[in-house]
Amino acid sequence: MKGLIVAALAFLFVGRMFALEYEKDIMPFLSEKCGECHSKSGKAKGGLKLDDPRHFYGRFEKNSVVVPGDWDASLLFITLFRPADHKDAMPPEGKGERLTPEETRMVQQWIADGAPIAGKSGETGPMPKKGDAGYIEAAGEPAPEMTAEPVEENWTNTQGKTIRATLIRVEGGKAWLKMKNGTVHKYPVNLLSEESRARLSPE
Ligand code: HEC
Repeated sequence: MKGLIVAALAFLFVGRMFALEYEKDIMPFLSEKCGECHSKSGKAKGGLKLDDPRHFYGRFEKNSVVVPGDWDASLLFITLFRPADHKDAMPPEGKGERLTPEETRMVQQWIADGAPIAGKSGETGPMPKKGDAGYIEAAGEPAPEMTAEPVEENWTNTQGKTIRATLIRVEGGKAWLKMKNGTVHKYPVNLLSEESRARLSPE
Protein backbone atom coordinates (compact mmCIF):
# COMPACT_ATOMS: atom_id res chain seq x y z
CA MET A 1 0.00 0.00 0.00
CA LYS A 2 2.67 2.44 1.04
CA GLY A 3 4.76 1.25 -1.90
CA LEU A 4 1.88 2.06 -4.19
CA ILE A 5 1.68 5.65 -2.98
CA VAL A 6 5.41 6.08 -3.41
CA ALA A 7 5.13 4.58 -6.89
CA ALA A 8 2.25 6.92 -7.71
CA LEU A 9 4.14 9.99 -6.51
CA ALA A 10 7.31 8.82 -8.19
CA PHE A 11 5.37 8.45 -11.38
CA LEU A 12 3.84 11.87 -11.12
CA PHE A 13 7.30 13.26 -10.65
CA VAL A 14 9.05 11.49 -13.52
CA GLY A 15 6.06 11.28 -15.79
CA ARG A 16 4.28 14.63 -15.83
CA MET A 17 5.83 15.53 -19.15
CA PHE A 18 3.93 12.57 -20.58
CA ALA A 19 0.22 11.83 -20.52
CA LEU A 20 -0.82 9.17 -18.03
CA GLU A 21 -1.65 5.88 -19.75
CA TYR A 22 -4.42 3.62 -18.62
CA GLU A 23 -2.64 0.28 -18.89
CA LYS A 24 0.50 1.44 -17.16
CA ASP A 25 -0.66 4.04 -14.65
CA ILE A 26 -4.32 3.50 -13.80
CA MET A 27 -5.27 -0.12 -14.47
CA PRO A 28 -2.98 -1.63 -11.82
CA PHE A 29 -4.74 0.01 -8.89
CA LEU A 30 -8.23 -0.22 -10.40
CA SER A 31 -7.71 -3.95 -11.05
CA GLU A 32 -6.56 -4.38 -7.49
CA LYS A 33 -9.34 -2.43 -5.79
CA CYS A 34 -12.27 -2.87 -8.19
CA GLY A 35 -11.45 -6.23 -9.78
CA GLU A 36 -13.69 -8.20 -7.47
CA CYS A 37 -16.75 -6.70 -9.20
CA HIS A 38 -15.43 -5.32 -12.51
CA SER A 39 -13.24 -7.90 -14.16
CA LYS A 40 -13.12 -9.97 -17.33
CA SER A 41 -12.42 -13.14 -15.33
CA GLY A 42 -15.07 -12.64 -12.67
CA LYS A 43 -18.05 -10.40 -12.07
CA ALA A 44 -18.64 -7.47 -14.39
CA LYS A 45 -21.15 -5.36 -12.47
CA GLY A 46 -22.79 -2.74 -14.64
CA GLY A 47 -21.12 -4.57 -17.55
CA LEU A 48 -17.85 -2.90 -16.73
CA LYS A 49 -14.50 -4.72 -16.93
CA LEU A 50 -11.80 -2.39 -15.73
CA ASP A 51 -8.96 -4.84 -16.41
CA ASP A 52 -9.77 -5.10 -20.13
CA PRO A 53 -8.64 -1.87 -21.85
CA ARG A 54 -10.28 -2.57 -25.23
CA HIS A 55 -13.60 -3.42 -23.62
CA PHE A 56 -13.34 -0.45 -21.29
CA TYR A 57 -12.60 1.91 -24.17
CA GLY A 58 -15.73 0.58 -25.88
CA ARG A 59 -17.70 1.44 -22.74
CA PHE A 60 -16.58 5.07 -22.49
CA GLU A 61 -19.69 6.55 -24.12
CA LYS A 62 -22.39 4.50 -22.43
CA ASN A 63 -23.49 6.47 -19.34
CA SER A 64 -20.56 8.83 -20.05
CA VAL A 65 -18.35 6.52 -18.03
CA VAL A 66 -15.29 8.37 -19.38
CA VAL A 67 -15.47 11.66 -21.30
CA PRO A 68 -11.87 12.36 -22.35
CA GLY A 69 -10.76 15.81 -21.20
CA ASP A 70 -13.80 16.27 -18.96
CA TRP A 71 -13.43 14.58 -15.57
CA ASP A 72 -16.44 16.53 -14.30
CA ALA A 73 -18.68 14.74 -16.81
CA SER A 74 -17.09 11.31 -16.38
CA LEU A 75 -19.15 8.87 -14.32
CA LEU A 76 -15.98 6.98 -13.40
CA PHE A 77 -14.52 10.02 -11.67
CA ILE A 78 -17.87 11.05 -10.18
CA THR A 79 -18.35 7.65 -8.52
CA LEU A 80 -14.83 7.85 -7.03
CA PHE A 81 -15.15 11.45 -5.88
CA ARG A 82 -18.44 10.91 -4.07
CA PRO A 83 -18.34 10.54 -0.30
CA ALA A 84 -17.94 6.90 0.79
CA ASP A 85 -21.50 6.74 2.13
CA HIS A 86 -23.15 8.07 -1.04
CA LYS A 87 -25.40 5.39 -2.49
CA ASP A 88 -23.69 5.60 -5.89
CA ALA A 89 -20.11 5.84 -4.64
CA MET A 90 -17.57 3.29 -5.83
CA PRO A 91 -16.73 0.94 -4.35
CA PRO A 92 -20.16 0.54 -2.73
CA GLU A 93 -20.02 1.43 0.95
CA GLY A 94 -18.41 -1.28 3.07
CA LYS A 95 -17.47 -3.37 0.02
CA GLY A 96 -13.86 -3.05 -0.99
CA GLU A 97 -11.12 -0.52 -0.52
CA ARG A 98 -11.55 3.07 -1.70
CA LEU A 99 -8.91 4.71 -3.84
CA THR A 100 -6.48 7.00 -2.04
CA PRO A 101 -6.73 10.74 -2.82
CA GLU A 102 -3.55 10.37 -4.88
CA GLU A 103 -5.06 7.56 -6.94
CA THR A 104 -8.32 9.45 -7.45
CA ARG A 105 -6.31 12.44 -8.58
CA MET A 106 -4.41 10.21 -11.03
CA VAL A 107 -7.73 9.07 -12.52
CA GLN A 108 -8.72 12.73 -12.84
CA GLN A 109 -5.38 13.61 -14.41
CA TRP A 110 -5.63 10.66 -16.81
CA ILE A 111 -9.05 11.91 -17.98
CA ALA A 112 -7.68 15.46 -18.31
CA ASP A 113 -4.81 14.02 -20.34
CA GLY A 114 -7.34 12.73 -22.89
CA ALA A 115 -7.80 9.30 -21.27
CA PRO A 116 -5.14 7.44 -23.29
CA ILE A 117 -6.09 3.76 -23.51
CA ALA A 118 -5.63 0.87 -25.97
CA GLY A 119 -3.46 3.08 -28.15
CA LYS A 120 -6.16 5.76 -28.44
CA SER A 121 -6.45 9.18 -26.90
CA GLY A 122 -9.19 11.82 -26.88
CA GLU A 123 -9.49 15.51 -26.17
CA THR A 124 -7.52 16.95 -23.29
CA GLY A 125 -8.86 19.34 -20.67
CA PRO A 126 -7.85 21.34 -17.61
CA MET A 127 -7.30 20.10 -14.07
CA PRO A 128 -8.91 22.02 -11.20
CA LYS A 129 -6.76 24.46 -9.29
CA LYS A 130 -6.62 24.68 -5.53
CA GLY A 131 -9.92 26.11 -4.32
CA ASP A 132 -11.83 24.96 -7.43
CA ALA A 133 -14.58 22.36 -7.19
CA GLY A 134 -13.12 18.92 -7.77
CA TYR A 135 -9.67 19.80 -6.49
CA ILE A 136 -8.23 16.88 -4.55
CA GLU A 137 -5.95 17.62 -1.67
CA ALA A 138 -3.22 15.01 -1.51
CA ALA A 139 -2.55 13.49 1.91
CA GLY A 140 -0.02 15.52 3.86
CA GLU A 141 0.26 18.31 1.32
CA PRO A 142 2.54 20.90 2.88
CA ALA A 143 1.45 24.39 3.81
CA PRO A 144 2.54 26.89 1.19
CA GLU A 145 4.90 28.89 3.40
CA MET A 146 8.59 28.25 2.89
CA THR A 147 11.64 28.89 4.97
CA ALA A 148 14.41 29.59 2.49
CA GLU A 149 14.28 31.81 -0.57
CA PRO A 150 12.75 29.52 -3.19
CA VAL A 151 14.79 28.87 -6.30
CA GLU A 152 13.58 26.89 -9.27
CA GLU A 153 16.15 24.34 -10.39
CA ASN A 154 16.48 21.24 -12.53
CA TRP A 155 16.13 17.96 -10.65
CA THR A 156 17.12 14.67 -12.22
CA ASN A 157 16.23 11.18 -11.05
CA THR A 158 18.17 7.95 -11.31
CA GLN A 159 16.45 7.22 -14.65
CA GLY A 160 17.78 10.45 -16.10
CA LYS A 161 14.40 12.26 -16.21
CA THR A 162 14.53 15.94 -15.33
CA ILE A 163 11.93 18.36 -13.99
CA ARG A 164 12.08 22.00 -12.98
CA ALA A 165 10.93 22.51 -9.42
CA THR A 166 11.62 24.39 -6.24
CA LEU A 167 12.97 22.48 -3.28
CA ILE A 168 10.85 23.27 -0.25
CA ARG A 169 12.42 20.96 2.30
CA VAL A 170 13.85 17.51 2.92
CA GLU A 171 12.03 15.38 5.44
CA GLY A 172 11.85 11.66 6.21
CA GLY A 173 14.00 10.74 3.25
CA LYS A 174 11.82 12.71 0.82
CA ALA A 175 12.63 15.85 -1.09
CA TRP A 176 9.59 18.14 -1.32
CA LEU A 177 9.67 19.52 -4.84
CA LYS A 178 7.20 22.16 -5.90
CA MET A 179 6.31 22.42 -9.55
CA LYS A 180 5.38 25.66 -11.29
CA ASN A 181 1.70 24.67 -11.24
CA GLY A 182 1.85 24.49 -7.45
CA THR A 183 1.84 20.70 -7.11
CA VAL A 184 4.25 19.42 -4.49
CA HIS A 185 5.83 16.02 -4.96
CA LYS A 186 7.53 14.29 -2.07
CA TYR A 187 10.21 12.49 -3.93
CA PRO A 188 12.34 9.75 -2.37
CA VAL A 189 15.83 11.17 -2.08
CA ASN A 190 17.39 7.82 -2.98
CA LEU A 191 15.70 7.98 -6.40
CA LEU A 192 17.38 11.27 -7.26
CA SER A 193 20.59 11.38 -9.27
CA GLU A 194 23.83 11.75 -7.35
CA GLU A 195 24.22 15.27 -8.67
CA SER A 196 20.72 16.30 -7.51
CA ARG A 197 21.19 14.59 -4.14
CA ALA A 198 24.40 16.52 -3.58
CA ARG A 199 22.39 19.76 -3.72
CA LEU A 200 20.12 18.78 -0.83
CA SER A 201 21.21 20.15 2.48
CA PRO A 202 21.26 17.55 5.27
CA GLU A 203 18.00 17.07 7.18
C1 HEC B 1 -18.60 -5.05 -4.37
C2 HEC B 1 -18.73 -4.82 -5.77
C3 HEC B 1 -18.17 -3.57 -6.39
C4 HEC B 1 -16.93 -3.02 -6.23
C5 HEC B 1 -15.80 -3.49 -5.32
C6 HEC B 1 -16.86 -1.92 -7.16
N1 HEC B 1 -18.02 -1.79 -7.85
FE1 HEC B 1 -18.45 -0.46 -9.34
N2 HEC B 1 -20.33 -1.22 -9.52
C7 HEC B 1 -20.84 -2.21 -8.73
C8 HEC B 1 -22.27 -2.31 -8.99
C9 HEC B 1 -23.22 -3.28 -8.31
C10 HEC B 1 -22.56 -1.34 -9.97
C11 HEC B 1 -23.90 -0.93 -10.49
C12 HEC B 1 -24.38 -1.71 -11.59
C13 HEC B 1 -25.69 -1.10 -12.04
O1 HEC B 1 -26.33 -0.35 -11.31
O2 HEC B 1 -26.07 -1.42 -13.16
C14 HEC B 1 -21.30 -0.68 -10.30
C15 HEC B 1 -21.21 0.32 -11.25
C16 HEC B 1 -20.03 1.03 -11.50
C17 HEC B 1 -19.90 2.07 -12.47
C18 HEC B 1 -21.00 2.58 -13.39
C19 HEC B 1 -21.04 1.80 -14.66
C20 HEC B 1 -22.18 2.25 -15.55
O3 HEC B 1 -21.96 2.33 -16.74
O4 HEC B 1 -23.26 2.51 -15.04
C21 HEC B 1 -18.63 2.52 -12.40
C22 HEC B 1 -18.00 3.64 -13.22
C23 HEC B 1 -17.96 1.75 -11.40
N3 HEC B 1 -18.83 0.84 -10.86
C24 HEC B 1 -16.64 1.91 -11.03
C25 HEC B 1 -16.01 1.22 -10.00
C26 HEC B 1 -14.67 1.45 -9.58
C27 HEC B 1 -13.71 2.45 -10.22
C28 HEC B 1 -14.42 0.63 -8.52
C29 HEC B 1 -13.17 0.52 -7.68
C30 HEC B 1 -12.73 1.72 -7.03
C31 HEC B 1 -15.63 -0.14 -8.29
N4 HEC B 1 -16.58 0.25 -9.20
C32 HEC B 1 -15.76 -1.12 -7.31
C33 HEC B 1 -20.18 -2.99 -7.83
C34 HEC B 1 -18.85 -2.77 -7.40
